[in-house]
Amino acid sequence: MKKLYSVKEVSEIFNISTNKIRFYEKKELINPKRNAENDYRYFNENDLIKLHTILMYRELNLPIESIRDIFKDESKNNLLNHFYTQWEVVNNQIHKMQLIKGSLEDIMDNVYESENESYKAEIIKVIESMNEIWKVKNEWKDKWDFNSWAKTYDESIRKDCSTLNFYKNYDKLLDTVFEKAVVDKKMTIKVLEIGVGTGNLSRRFLDENYDITGIDQSREMLNVAKEKFPKLKLRLGDFLKIPFENNKFDVIVSTYAFHHLDEEEKKIAINEMLRVLKLDGKIIIGDLMFESQKDKEEIMETLTKGEIEEIEDEYYSNIDFLREQFKVHGKKLEVTRIDKLVFIVEAN
Ligand SMILES: C[S@@+](CC[C@H](N)C(=O)[O-])C[C@H]1O[C@@H](n2cnc3c(N)ncnc32)[C@H](O)[C@@H]1O
Repeated sequence: MKKLYSVKEVSEIFNISTNKIRFYEKKELINPKRNAENDYRYFNENDLIKLHTILMYRELNLPIESIRDIFKDESKNNLLNHFYTQWEVVNNQIHKMQLIKGSLEDIMDNVYESENESYKAEIIKVIESMNEIWKVKNEWKDKWDFNSWAKTYDESIRKDCSTLNFYKNYDKLLDTVFEKAVVDKKMTIKVLEIGVGTGNLSRRFLDENYDITGIDQSREMLNVAKEKFPKLKLRLGDFLKIPFENNKFDVIVSTYAFHHLDEEEKKIAINEMLRVLKLDGKIIIGDLMFESQKDKEEIMETLTKGEIEEIEDEYYSNIDFLREQFKVHGKKLEVTRIDKLVFIVEAN
């Protein structure tokens, strides 16, 4: 039999007063059943999950009326969607607080170290830089609408409808990224895949029992991946606000995802990846790229207007730019060309 909880137990679980629980009951957000014999209210698991959701949304200042609307659809998918929303808000707050904390540390160092009034100008610089980073982190939008592509993604890449046949070497790219990630087969490694999509690269790691977690900014992609690979650990998250603590992973892999970030965003994404990577870890990115500005110009000259438009709808990396960015962090880049537009870069 499923466990039932008294008001007192619920108030202890959530660390809130029984009055607060009654308030939500009066507002008809929760509706615990009454025991026929003693008329006491008892809460079941659904009531507890609902209460958790109410408290989270109240923490985020959502009005009672809006919460009531959310509860109108109690399907599993709708519930999952709300947890995703909460997760996103919490992850955002953590990232914002981390940025503020880091900036305050920089400001305090400046004030300590400065011998004259010049520290005031430095403080302004730190504040400007913090706000600029937060703006970039916050303003990335999925203008390609991956949610609507999720269900047909696998089928469409097999057909490869793109004019430039981006996916003609799809399996070769994924196999090579996997091989590079697990060169030392005896080592136990923690792997993170960013932009996991429908899980095709992660599957290679799962099949050989590697500890892999995938993140993606698209909820629908995550749903498809979970349906295909129920054992795959998945989280909502993006390159710019990776939802994990520092120095957690040995290897970070990503395929066909990095070109959805422009250069400013790529710089921040590289910082983010290095933050969650162990110090001796490696990052392997398989994606659409140009070797250099010269390589780009030569290739563009051979393309039709339609093909150029397709390329310019996204942000193919310039490998020289990536090399510079990783060099700042003491990482070297190894480059493997898969075909005209597809490369693997490995930062070690
Ligand atoms: C073309 S699909 C590639 C999927 C998979 N990696 C593969 O190789 O088949 C691009 C994926 O990257 C995800 N993506 C795009 N931009 C992202 C970002 N900034 N952060 C996280 N995921 C992102 C998309 O949601 C989508 O699932």
